[in-house]
Amino acid sequence: MSPSNQNSNHVPVLLEEAMEALAVQPGGRYVDCTVGSGGHARAILERSSPGGQLLGIDADPMAIKVAQKKLEEYKKSVLLVNDNFVNLQATCIKYDFFPVHGILLDLGFSSMQLNGSGRGFSFQHDAHLDMRFNPEQEVTAADIVNTSPEAELARIIRTYGEESHSRQIARLIVQERPITSTLHLARIVEKAVGRRTGKIHPATKTFQAIRIAVNLELENLERALKQAIELLGFEGRLVVISYHSLEDRIVKRLMQQEARGCICPPGTPVCICGHEPRLKLIRRHVIMPSEGEIRANPRSRSAKLRAATRLIAQDACLAADEMEILWAETEARAWRRPALLRKLQMVFAMA
Ligand SMILES: C[S@@+](CC[C@H](N)C(=O)[O-])C[C@H]1O[C@@H](n2cnc3c(N)ncnc32)[C@H](O)[C@@H]1O
Repeated sequence: MSPSNQNSNHVPVLLEEAMEALAVQPGGRYVDCTVGSGGHARAILERSSPGGQLLGIDADPMAIKVAQKKLEEYKKSVLLVNDNFVNLQATCIKYDFFPVHGILLDLGFSSMQLNGSGRGFSFQHDAHLDMRFNPEQEVTAADIVNTSPEAELARIIRTYGEESHSRQIARLIVQERPITSTLHLARIVEKAVGRRTGKIHPATKTFQAIRIAVNLELENLERALKQAIELLGFEGRLVVISYHSLEDRIVKRLMQQEARGCICPPGTPVCICGHEPRLKLIRRHVIMPSEGEIRANPRSRSAKLRAATRLIAQDACLAADEMEILWAETEARAWRRPALLRKLQMVFAMA
């Protein structure tokens, strides 16, 4: 399918809140790890102009093509890379794009992938059971559904879908294999769980679980967040929008842990961990969409935004007087100048 006939009208979620949390400023360097159809990326480019730069990453080559079109007028300021954000650090090093002022992750899938891709993310349309963000990846949803032992299927559905009927669903899937299409799978789940009673379709949790397993979403998120912290410059911002509790738990735990000083077990008489806080939470509480946004874009209803700012401990990488000048300059907010960025880069390289 060409990018032009994809349904690319994905509405970016928590757009203003994300821009505010990123503190986007002219001349800044930003990474959008999930560029999708370029909604957040475009807003970053608008606000960081003149002189702003954006590295946009997406695992889905079709998303990159759509983003290319959407960001055409900023093409001199954008670099788009088709890769998984689990390789975030390697990508930034490869393109000499660090330290950065802000990193955004807007997790999950886009409306374009859900509605128009025919890649099996939705149980509303019949399609092959695929669910890969990157079609070059080996394992598909059909592989997991048709080859996993029953106990493993039940574990996936229970853990990644938080589905209380996981055993019944797994048993019925195994009885009815091979399962080739999304509607076939949705019917089996409906049969195992019973018909819909509330607003949520009974297959929602199972589809979420299988998609998470296919794309190793939770493992990749945790690894990417750790890399993101390393790539942020002093006072750089890390902003994450998640859409279900499993993702949000990972983001919350990691941000809180990195915002703490000592992480010794309670009762340890003297600190032995030497842990220094590397992040400061921007808001203690999660940011959620307004009722107006949910009405206008129901897809946003489960979104949660968390944000933190990077702290960098003074260390002995630079001589004391050089460090003092560097700090004075960064505090005066002049740290976006290239010479200063290079110095900060040195501190990073040596850390
Ligand atoms: C919610 S959409 C992002 C939408 C985007 N913010 C916008 O405004 O158009 C999520 C995107 O993240 C991509 N994605 C999900 N997991 C990824 C990963 N591990 N690495 C890179 N991209 C990923 C998906 O392919 C999808 O395009």
